[in-house]
Amino acid sequence: MSVTCKPVTPDLIQEALGFYKEHYLPNDPLLKAVGCTEMTHVDRHSTLSYLQEGLSWCAVDKTTGRMVGLQINRCVKIADLPDVAPTIDYVRRGWSRKLSSILCLFDSAFDTKQILTTYKVDKLMRLFALGVHCDYKKRGIATELIKRSMHHAAQDGVMLFAVLCTSAYTKRVCENQGFDKVKDTSYSTYVDETQSVLYKDIDVEEPHTAATCYVKRL
Ligand SMILES: CC(C)(COP(=O)(O)OP(=O)(O)OC[C@H]1O[C@@H](n2cnc3c(N)ncnc32)[C@H](O)[C@@H]1OP(=O)(O)O)[C@@H](O)C(=O)NCCC(=O)NCCS
Repeated sequence: MSVTCKPVTPDLIQEALGFYKEHYLPNDPLLKAVGCTEMTHVDRHSTLSYLQEGLSWCAVDKTTGRMVGLQINRCVKIADLPDVAPTIDYVRRGWSRKLSSILCLFDSAFDTKQILTTYKVDKLMRLFALGVHCDYKKRGIATELIKRSMHHAAQDGVMLFAVLCTSAYTKRVCENQGFDKVKDTSYSTYVDETQSVLYKDIDVEEPHTAATCYVKRL
């Protein structure tokens, strides 16, 4: 099985969206544990818009031509962020309580403005989603997609690359690639704004124990 990595060009966007739905959503350890593995209308809309930014990468099996890995990236600029990060009431906006708590955890685990300020840059490239087909895992595909994304970001003048890892395996890639660990948010002890321990009755499979924010200067 020989695999090549390439940018997600406009002709690959629909296949990428299908790959995200079939191979990323059902397998992300946190989404799986909480049971949020279906693609909602809102998710489809935002994922499509990120893919259309033209910053994402995929892995393709050279023999079959099929997509076997996908990394969706987006660029975040300080000029686009509000002065004060709003506390978003996701439940009032219609999200389920479990998914709302996950979104709050993400907001707490990854503070974009603080990262940009700390690293004194006006924009960063952020990994939004990363998935590899189950038949192709543990062959270095995720590692290669992250390396390609960083290289391309640097060529585009982006000085910082950031990842919020929900999986122990992406954490491993970040550690191997020399990222700085910014923050570890443990699944078992995270307390949301209502002071409830979100994960006390949710079983995130081992070895995935925390959402960890990593950053690397390019
Ligand atoms: C996470 C994921 C993208 C990794 O893809 P991959 O192509 O298998 O990753 P790599 O082959 O580059 O491996 C990365 C590191 O994790 C380790 N790893 C990957 N899968 C592993 C497994 N099942 N058990 C133990 N270690 C594993 C690898 O050994 C490697 O570390 P090393 O280089 O120090 O040996 C893939 O498992 C996946 O799609 N998971 C479901 C979706 C998900 O969790 N996405 C990430 C959300 S942040």
